[in-house]
Amino acid sequence: LENGVARTPPMGWNSWNTFGCNISESLIKGMADAIVNSGMRDLGYQYVVVDDCWMNSTRDSAGNLQANASRFPSGMKALGDYLHARGLKFGIYQAPLDRTCAQYFGSYPGATGAQGHETQDARQFAAWGVDYLKYDWCSPSGTIDDQVRTFARMRDALAAAGRPILYSINSNSIHDKTGPRRNWGDVANIWRTTEDITNAWNTGQTNGYPMGIQNIVDVTVPLASYARPGAFNDPDMMEVGRGGMTDTEMRSHFALWAMMASPLIAGNDLRNMNAATQTILKNQNLIAINQDTLGLQATQISNDGSRRVLAKRLGNGDVAVALFNQSGSTTTVSTTASAIGLSGGSFTLRDAWTNASSSSTGAISASVPSHGTVVYRVTAGTTPTPTPTVTPTVTPTVTP
Ligand code: GLA
Repeated sequence: LENGVARTPPMGWNSWNTFGCNISESLIKGMADAIVNSGMRDLGYQYVVVDDCWMNSTRDSAGNLQANASRFPSGMKALGDYLHARGLKFGIYQAPLDRTCAQYFGSYPGATGAQGHETQDARQFAAWGVDYLKYDWCSPSGTIDDQVRTFARMRDALAAAGRPILYSINSNSIHDKTGPRRNWGDVANIWRTTEDITNAWNTGQTNGYPMGIQNIVDVTVPLASYARPGAFNDPDMMEVGRGGMTDTEMRSHFALWAMMASPLIAGNDLRNMNAATQTILKNQNLIAINQDTLGLQATQISNDGSRRVLAKRLGNGDVAVALFNQSGSTTTVSTTASAIGLSGGSFTLRDAWTNASSSSTGAISASVPSHGTVVYRVTAGTTPTPTPTVTPTVTPTVTP
């Protein structure tokens, strides 16, 4: 969507994966402080997104949405101000039909969806200082044409509201088995590609609830041609740091999201991250690959069912290559410089996890543990591209 935002995939944090409806003003403020104190803000994690259950169960007499007063006693404008004062951006959740998903599934009272209130809600969000709207189709029914019309109505309402607002949509239960039923880049900045993620490697789902990491990768990789600046596939918020996976699997999860030009929206509790989680979420090589200016999603070079190779062309002429082992045991995953689109006789490979550089005459190969992903940044010639070095301005105070 050409609305000036999301020129690279958005980065930030969302409340849903860890907290569901158990959210409050103090929780969100605490998480904002943790984004700053952990150094994540300075690495690009900017959006703090308050997911479902922030609202009162009714609109006011003028039809305006209201914050749930016991959870957000100071109101949403004050929360936005708190975030903006810390150099962060404010995200909020709403649904296009009559109910949000938590309301639809009965875990939260009310029926406060935007239907018939699109202009009013968009103006309200702009007045609160909202920078990001997650807009979530919560009904098993509706045709694709209904969705296009309905999602476009809020797109236009946001455009008329006078504030740049990143527009994130979810077709939810009417996703197809192979991903979204259309390329939503004319309607939204990011669009979900599958049903909800969970903190597991593989749930065996092709597009049912809940999806594991491998399952989401299977659906999202074929959609690579949709990605461009302003418009990205959204394979859902990350499960890094939430348990349920090995560190190798969490590293793969993050590496593959980076390669797929996916939004990097953390879903874990940032106030108590262990060292492994911090190392993953703060990997500057992978963040640079994700945030590359070309905005390309990695395309698949090969996949024999156990060994999968993905490559992402980067703005300076380098190519990032992921060597992903989907099998149950360690194996060597290989490709070549020419297969990933580089020509010449000498190349420099920098490992995104170890930062080590090596030289190659064209072979690109690594021994990769089960469910692991090795990522190299490949440069033609013998001079490696310098490692990104953002030094966070705030000393981390997070307890390991
Ligand atoms: C849907 C979405 C989730 C979350 C919940 C909130 O399931 O896919 O990401 O927003 O609704 O109820």
